[in-house]
Amino acid sequence: MKIYKNYNITVIGAGHVGLVTAACFSELGNKVICVDNDKNKISKLNKLIMPFYEPDLEKLVLKNFKKRLFFSNSLDYGIRNSQIIFIAVGTPPKEDGSSDLSAIEIISREIALKLNSYKLIVEKSTVPVQTGQKIKETILRYKKNNVEFDIASNPEFLREGSAVYDFFNPDRIVVGTDSKKAKEILKNLYAPLKSKIIITDINTAEIIKHASNSFLAAKISFINAVARICDLAGANVKDVAYALGLDKRIGKYFLDAGIGYGGFCFPKDLEAFLYISKKLGYEFGLLSEVKKINETQKLYFVEKIKEKLWILKDKKIAILGLSFKPNTDDLRFAPSIDIINYLLKEGASISAYDPKSNEAAKKIFKDNIYFAKNIYDAVKNSDCICFLTEWEEFKKIDFKKIKKLLKTPIIADGRNMFNRKELEFLGFEYIGIGT
Ligand code: UDX
Repeated sequence: MKIYKNYNITVIGAGHVGLVTAACFSELGNKVICVDNDKNKISKLNKLIMPFYEPDLEKLVLKNFKKRLFFSNSLDYGIRNSQIIFIAVGTPPKEDGSSDLSAIEIISREIALKLNSYKLIVEKSTVPVQTGQKIKETILRYKKNNVEFDIASNPEFLREGSAVYDFFNPDRIVVGTDSKKAKEILKNLYAPLKSKIIITDINTAEIIKHASNSFLAAKISFINAVARICDLAGANVKDVAYALGLDKRIGKYFLDAGIGYGGFCFPKDLEAFLYISKKLGYEFGLLSEVKKINETQKLYFVEKIKEKLWILKDKKIAILGLSFKPNTDDLRFAPSIDIINYLLKEGASISAYDPKSNEAAKKIFKDNIYFAKNIYDAVKNSDCICFLTEWEEFKKIDFKKIKKLLKTPIIADGRNMFNRKELEFLGFEYIGIGT
């Protein structure tokens, strides 16, 4: 068996990307310190309490904790005790659409002041093109001694809900650096994954990340626009997507029409790419349209419900699914938030259920909506059920039982999960998107 070289790694940021990256690198045999300035989060992690739900993550943390995986609040400790430093802190959107890179700037200065031996600094957070360059300039400006360092960009493509799987089974690994040494270290580090590694310069690696997420978002908006035409023409978008996807040049993924994309990546990354393109001198009109289609898709769905129920005031609507996608409790930019707010504004009352994110949703909606204990509790006496997230649990629903609990048997399927004919056969009125 081939023995791979192991490294001392620090991952800065214990968010979705950082924590998964830290746990997975420790699983590969590296010694990893995961640092975060959120004291509460680190103290919970040290008690083995996960800050969010992600399949298989807890298992990996439990397995490697205090053997190869450590959690700390001290950036200083993390910097001094590692050869490779991954920056995986948040880059939240600002009002103007640009990314807030202040955390990265602070960390770059800290690293500069604490350089005690050669370090490879790797940006993992999604950042605008030319951020790597800025990190390098900052470290050069603030460093106090002659210690060498390198910078690399190694964008992360993991999806929430399958992040651990994605880490160990990547389609490709992208490494952007101008240093031979950095290239060798990262090739060694990732060797156990046996994936294709694309080596390029930093700016190109950063653009690869922008372009990947924007292209996927564009695919979703494209099929959502086609879905609207299908509604107008009386065609079926599911069949259109299936036929499109069989063409290898198009591919079958990310062609599911529905209420649009959400989450902390696509909306924010698209905005940041639009912003940086404009700043560099190019108006990326295509992406503006992608964003517009996505934003109007939620209202389009509510209009369809209104068309069926006529007046929403005093109607009870059951919402099944709140998270922006299944297998996560993440509600950031979830389409459910806008949809529920539209419905509340029209005077509807809401009873909601999500297998994982009821607790997180309580912080957003407070007592403006009723949080149900389960599917059947949510739908009781409702005028309509809206499916907003395609959880497996919902696919096994006993529709005969549901029908008896509803006031009127109307289903609005925001993720095109069900078959219209089957539900109509059972006596439901069905609202789909393009189907
Ligand atoms: C995305 C990228 O896929 C990942 O590579 C990157 O690292 C982070 O951003 P994530 O946000 O976790 O990952 O979710 P993803 O599975 O890509 O879905 C994003 C959104 O698009 C979800 O709201 C999902 O419901 C929606 N979607 C996805 C559709 O509406 N239709 C589709 O066909 C696919």
